[in-house]
Amino acid sequence: MGFTDQSMVSTGINGNLGGMSSPSVYNSAFSLAQFWDGRAASLEAQSQGPPQNPSEMFDGKGNAWDAAVERLRAKPEYVAMFKEVFGTMPTRDGAAKAMAAYERTVLTGNSIHDRTEVAMRKRVGEEETGKFEVLAKDYEKVLSEAIVAKDSSALEALGVKGADKAATSELARSINNGRILFNGKARCNGCHVGDSFSDSQFHNLGVGAKAGKLPEGMLGRFGAQPTGQKNPELVGAFKTPHLRQLLATAPYMHDGSLKTLEEVVDFYDKGGNANPFLDVRMRDYASEKASGPKAIKPLALGLTPFEKKDLVNFMKALNGEVAEAIVVDPSKFAK
Ligand code: HEC
Repeated sequence: MGFTDQSMVSTGINGNLGGMSSPSVYNSAFSLAQFWDGRAASLEAQSQGPPQNPSEMFDGKGNAWDAAVERLRAKPEYVAMFKEVFGTMPTRDGAAKAMAAYERTVLTGNSIHDRTEVAMRKRVGEEETGKFEVLAKDYEKVLSEAIVAKDSSALEALGVKGADKAATSELARSINNGRILFNGKARCNGCHVGDSFSDSQFHNLGVGAKAGKLPEGMLGRFGAQPTGQKNPELVGAFKTPHLRQLLATAPYMHDGSLKTLEEVVDFYDKGGNANPFLDVRMRDYASEKASGPKAIKPLALGLTPFEKKDLVNFMKALNGEVAEAIVVDPSKFAK
């Protein structure tokens, strides 16, 4: 399971936003703010949301959290566990802490791309060239090793069936080209940066915008900022999501409007959707200047079909292993 419910739920607090797709829980420990609009500063604050949301866990009667705590207190096994961990009866605070602690263990890593970074460092160390840059042959080495080790979690995402030298070599070239495009022509690294591929900032891509207008009431980050501290540039801006384990978390974008990674790349290829708040990184300033004041022109990337495929392959190479072992088996905690 992909730790998102793969369905649209209204978020309660921002109910006027209409359908929202659950953000990925994977690696949320590394996210500075939680929810698409960043309204929760911590996982402890985030985990208090769902029990009071009418479309998630709340029947709309009385106080949602009082009811949730009552349900926990009615179960002797929960009473015993809370006593052991917190020394109290089940409380809202304790429940939120426990859920946040669990979410922090839902991690993914060791993808084909991560292993390739390690392989590259080893190679450059041996070659003594000091040129720390990934090459297609690094991906090829890692893919070949994964094939020998029958490491299906890494290979399934990329659709690798078996040992075929020519196919492996071609796939390695494609992933590497995707990486170069991601950090170059396609400009994805303007926002998706670092180990988790997110700048933890908020940007308006015009998701859901039609005919130059955002959907009614789609305030994004602007709506979540406190009165007096609102930044009008963040109307319709949402948090840059990380790009790990994407194959387990479709559909994409805050409204779940894009079903596949191919659709995501097509969306960026046309520069997102025009609207008055489109992020500066998504805009074609030359063409805006030529079109006169107040023109908003999305920057088309001009990707070829092959380049689109390479970008998708690079994102698939970020699918990794899920680290659940320590939760399933506490004896694996380092002593
Ligand atoms: C201007 C910053 C910015 C740039 C440039 C950018 N992204 Fe994004 N990306 C975002 C934000 C913000 C979202 C969420 C937008 C929303 O839902 O409204 C997002 C969403 C995504 C998602 C969906 C992830 C999910 O969990 O739903 C994928 C995949 C993605 N971007 C890939 C890319 C690729 C590939 C590129 C380059 C072609 C790129 N991004 C360029 C900021 C950016």
